[in-house]
Amino acid sequence: MTAAAKPKRPRAELDAYYTPDWPILRFVLAVHEELELLLRDPAARLLEPCAGDGAIIRVVESLVAGADRKNWVANDINFRAVARLREQGIYTAHGDALAFKLDLGVHDAHIAVAITNPKYLANFPLKLARHLMTQPRPPAFFAMLCRITLLETPARAKFFREFPPHVYVLPERVSYTGDGQSDNAGAAWFVFRPGQTDSRLFWLTDDHVQPGLPLDGE
Ligand SMILES: C[S@@+](CC[C@H](N)C(=O)[O-])C[C@H]1O[C@@H](n2cnc3c(N)ncnc32)[C@H](O)[C@@H]1O
Repeated sequence: MTAAAKPKRPRAELDAYYTPDWPILRFVLAVHEELELLLRDPAARLLEPCAGDGAIIRVVESLVAGADRKNWVANDINFRAVARLREQGIYTAHGDALAFKLDLGVHDAHIAVAITNPKYLANFPLKLARHLMTQPRPPAFFAMLCRITLLETPARAKFFREFPPHVYVLPERVSYTGDGQSDNAGAAWFVFRPGQTDSRLFWLTDDHVQPGLPLDGE
């Protein structure tokens, strides 16, 4: 007799799986010097384009000089998430991240850093990466937390040759449901920088130290 297949848990509306602190902490500890350098410019702002409940904003704010919430621009398509973010004092737009314009229209203020865990379905992460990295002034640093299987498929390989990511691998799987359950895949932070011409791999172990990467990505 074959065992009945375990019913698949339905995915939350809009992929609302908010990121626990540890994968953000581990990544930000590896790249905080680069972020702090970018944020020394008083006109530099940070963007969370699919901000959910603001998990990434809170952790980055707690670790990185210059990342106080007054310097963030958040966005989400879910109006309830937008209302909660605004209650936390975070400037938040309500719309599709794929239509978000990086030109803030305020003096020389510009988005220097963008960081998110985006919706995964419908190839959304790569659409978002293309949308942000092809704007007239793209962020100097764009990071997104995704399943490691984002590396698969011929169409994505073509995209990654055009926009080579630096991939920071989390050696443990991330549970988004608070019960230890996870997808059948590992996760990694995919980092894009304008002019980055090669892909590299980093492992986010506890003792990970960011190698001295020149900021032009080469
Ligand atoms: C996986 S959750 C992660 C939320 C947050 N980035 C975090 O790390 O906790 C994805 C978020 O994307 C939002 N979202 C889904 N489609 C979107 C779209 N087209 N534009 C902007 N946000 C979207 C959802 O409402 C949800 O808050």
